[in-house]
Amino acid sequence: MDETNRGRLTKDGIRIHDQDDFGGMARAGALAASILDDLAPLVVPGTTTGALDRAIEEAVEAAGATSATIGYKGYRHASCISVNHVVCHGIPGDKVLKDGDILNVDVTVIVDGWYGDTSRMFVAGKLSRKSERLLDVTHDALMLGIEAVKPGATFGDIGHAIQSYVEAQRMSVVRDFCGHGLGRVFHAPPNVLHYGRPGTGARLEEGMFFTIEPMVNLGRPETKVLADDWTAVTRDKSLSAQFEHSVGVRADGAEIFTLSPKGLFHPTYT
Ligand code: MF3
Ligand code: CO
Ligand code: CO
Repeated sequence: MDETNRGRLTKDGIRIHDQDDFGGMARAGALAASILDDLAPLVVPGTTTGALDRAIEEAVEAAGATSATIGYKGYRHASCISVNHVVCHGIPGDKVLKDGDILNVDVTVIVDGWYGDTSRMFVAGKLSRKSERLLDVTHDALMLGIEAVKPGATFGDIGHAIQSYVEAQRMSVVRDFCGHGLGRVFHAPPNVLHYGRPGTGARLEEGMFFTIEPMVNLGRPETKVLADDWTAVTRDKSLSAQFEHSVGVRADGAEIFTLSPKGLFHPTYT
């Protein structure tokens, strides 16, 4: 038996982790979050997404950790950077940020074999009122999803908490991408949908680890993937936002592994 398959799987194929495993996830999550904290001052008009990615790659290396995305399915970068109408999986490169651009930066690191996966929104320069509302709703949707996490609840309860809130704000939830189990692997069961009906789906148990990472659009929910086979954009070109935490199920609710050490998770709090 190797390290990646210790412990038991539920009938839905979801791994149940033990007490020590929470400690491993907390260390990996804290590193991913602190790398995003340190990125904040670098996100200014005139910089490129490639420069931000290089800073992330250097920070991962300086910490003695490993990037989970470099080499993953042929991906070559330490982050995904998704600007404005890019929904997710934006490829860092020579794109120059301009005043008012909003961007999601998604980082996954491996520390002692454990995966810490988190993303948050940044703004280059001044945040417009319209973008601020999108960021607020997306952030609050993630936190409402996390509040639904407790043993005995279902994954449908999480999706419903997110969807019902977002749609009441007259915004839409992306259906084409979802959160995922993780731990000593990057992507594992279950698919964590950001929409759904209460009481449906697998039941949460103490010791499950997964991400919640809702993508919210100002316009319609449909996406398409560009010719580079990675970049997902909104079909109607509307603005899109995303926040992601890695969490573990405790007896009394979620433990968030990727909390920002500096309290910078939400750009309007900075
Ligand atoms: N970090 C992303 C997630 O939240 C996955 C990125 S895979 C990559 O699951 F290859 F595009 F980097
Ligand atoms: Co993820
Ligand atoms: Co991610």
